Amino acid sequence: MSLKILGAGMAHPGFVLSNSALSEIVETDDQWITTRTGIKSRFISTNESLLDIAMTASKNAMQNSGLKSEDLDLIICSTIQGDNITPALSCEIQHELGASCPAFDVNAACTGFIYALDIAKSYFDAGRSKNILIVSAEQMSKLINWQDRSTCVLFGDGAGAVVVTKGSNLKAIKVTAKGNSDLLEISGLTGNNPYWEGEKPDLFLHMKGKEVFKFAVNSMCNDIIDVLAESGLGIEDVTKVIPHQANIRIIRSAADKLGLRDDQLAVNVDRYGNTSSASVPILLGELMESGELKEGDIIVLSAFGGGLTSGACIIEV
Ligand SMILES: CC(C)(COP(=O)(O)OP(=O)(O)OC[C@H]1O[C@@H](n2cnc3c(N)ncnc32)[C@H](O)[C@@H]1OP(=O)(O)O)[C@@H](O)C(=O)NCCC(=O)NCCS
Repeated sequence: MSLKILGAGMAHPGFVLSNSALSEIVETDDQWITTRTGIKSRFISTNESLLDIAMTASKNAMQNSGLKSEDLDLIICSTIQGDNITPALSCEIQHELGASCPAFDVNAACTGFIYALDIAKSYFDAGRSKNILIVSAEQMSKLINWQDRSTCVLFGDGAGAVVVTKGSNLKAIKVTAKGNSDLLEISGLTGNNPYWEGEKPDLFLHMKGKEVFKFAVNSMCNDIIDVLAESGLGIEDVTKVIPHQANIRIIRSAADKLGLRDDQLAVNVDRYGNTSSASVPILLGELMESGELKEGDIIVLSAFGGGLTSGACIIEV
């Protein structure tokens, strides 16, 4: 299959919001958040635009790839909501990088990065691209209700990016969708149409946590089992599983069912919370930057979220 990672980068806002600081604005405490989610702190935007964060991640990935912006022939951005509805965040990144290639956004909620990789693969397979920048950038802080303790403690802001080129390192990929707005929903603008007679929902994230938890564990297990089968690899061949960072209990529960050793599991949910589609490439960027991943390592990426969507893939670094 036709894809290879040339470089990765990540970024987050400067402000670190700890659980104890959060407990000053909503009725919660460090012990509840830590034991139920594994989250200790998250990065929250104070004066950074999403474009600012996405650009830092993109520039890092470009630098690590050794490519120049004129080498790019596509930019795919995954985000639930960019700074603007239009232009797309990808178009703003293209402008800031000084690139001239096509650019578009995809929204598959927390699975957006895996969907973007799947699209990139199709462009390579069709012979339409040589080098693609994928940027997953999310500002969950503007989408959550800061008075709802059952959701506002879970999320954070950040961006991760990779530059991919044609290659044979993608061993298997799978994406799924099971349309369902009952378990996880963020409503869109209804505007000020004076003739509108329908509902005017609030614009915040609503979630049925327990049901989403079950969906997440099942999806992560099924998707990873499927991509392993497609690739002909066994769980013992995997150097690191890089799962969507929503909740340490989801990750550990799936890891137990899959028979993963602790050293095979990558985790940073304690420092970031859930950054939606940015979470997998942020963690990938951290592992590549620290030298923890080496050429030839086999990594499994897995994500799940709103939609409901899920996906996984296997890549040789
Ligand atoms: C949200 C989640 C952490 C809640 O954990 P849980 O064990 O299911 O907790 P519950 O919802 O049963 O709540 C238990 C109690 O804690 C309370 N509670 C909820 N949030 C709280 C908070 N931040 N601080 C303190 N107490 C809280 C609830 O009110 C409830 O109290 P009650 O028993 O008196 O009614 C968990 O369901 C989860 O992670 N779900 C998946 C979410 C997810 O990953 N979403 C994104 C997918 S991309």
